[in-house]
Amino acid sequence: MDDELTGQKIIVVGGAGYIGAHVCKAVADKGATPITFDNFSSGHKHAVKWGPFETVDLRDKPATLAAFTKHKDAHAIVHLASSIEVGIGEKDPAGFYENNVVGALNLLEAMRSLSLRNLIFSSTCATYGETDQMPILESQVQNPFSVYGKTKLTIEHMIQSYHKAYGLTYITLRYFNASGADVSGEIGEEHDPETHLIPIALAAAAGLRGRMKIFGTDYDTPDGTCIRDYIHVSDIAAAHLCGLKAFANGLTHSKVNIGTGKGVSNLEILQMIEKVTGKAVPYDNAPRRDGDLTRLYADPKRAKEALGFTAQHSSLKNIIQTAWNFHSKRWNLKNVHGPDDK
Ligand code: UFG
Repeated sequence: MDDELTGQKIIVVGGAGYIGAHVCKAVADKGATPITFDNFSSGHKHAVKWGPFETVDLRDKPATLAAFTKHKDAHAIVHLASSIEVGIGEKDPAGFYENNVVGALNLLEAMRSLSLRNLIFSSTCATYGETDQMPILESQVQNPFSVYGKTKLTIEHMIQSYHKAYGLTYITLRYFNASGADVSGEIGEEHDPETHLIPIALAAAAGLRGRMKIFGTDYDTPDGTCIRDYIHVSDIAAAHLCGLKAFANGLTHSKVNIGTGKGVSNLEILQMIEKVTGKAVPYDNAPRRDGDLTRLYADPKRAKEALGFTAQHSSLKNIIQTAWNFHSKRWNLKNVHGPDDK
């Protein structure tokens, strides 16, 4: 039933970020109120449109408790805030562990002291690490190689311990490659610096940057480039709604992949960009990027069984079209935001 969430208050930690803003919009569309907690270190105030926000940094334990206390009548917490750039994590593990792990511990402690129970946690396919078994099942051994993946797996373990010892109810969503933008074009991917394939390739197609690099063309794949599972950010947001409904229906804990099950190569992305935009992507072949896996795609069955979730918006064409709509609007209107607005 679609009205199950009406009137609920949902705290969205990291609600000003790319995925967080889409979650807030989806929550508001269901008649619930998203309350964004964000420190705006990478999130954007202009992306907070569907409910109130608190400026809070999870590393500050007393401030975190105070913010949660203010909203202690929340029905559920969605926790998306974290450092995400894999390369930066390798150079600054201390910063990553502090922001991601200490921040999550402070969040869990605030929830525990206020008897808040329902947590949806953003995890990642990066927690699996190197594996030859495709598609990836949730039951596979998790052996992350990046600091980023290690912080996320550590948090998964913390959450499991809180479930066992304190009765925390949780759903861990292991996202594959988040992509695309809301169909309205009002929110989308705005990382600084941008490191992801699709926004970089769109900027190159638009002539806003030089030739891009395709990292590695000698992989053991049909066209020699890496394969990923691109899932539309609106589908990721919908998975959160499924999770919130699952709590209402008594689910106590689950860990699920959020992907499509379909692998797409880097060159297939560039081909679809050319098809959708009518512009070729100027690129050069470059050496492999450190830490990249050859192929990574989900087995999405458990998400369907446990949450009733299947991707609806994740055709490659829709992903590229919505991302292109968002970016072209943003590039044309780049001075639309005020000077204090990141
Ligand atoms: N790529 C290029 N050129 C670029 C950027 C990316 O060739 O300029 C390639 C990468 O080498 C990779 C593919 O495009 O083969 C996808 O790279 P992204 O950086 O877009 O995405 P990743 O798969 O590396 O990262 C995603 C998430 C991370 C998460 C990771 C887990 O964005 O947060 O999946 O593997 F950690």
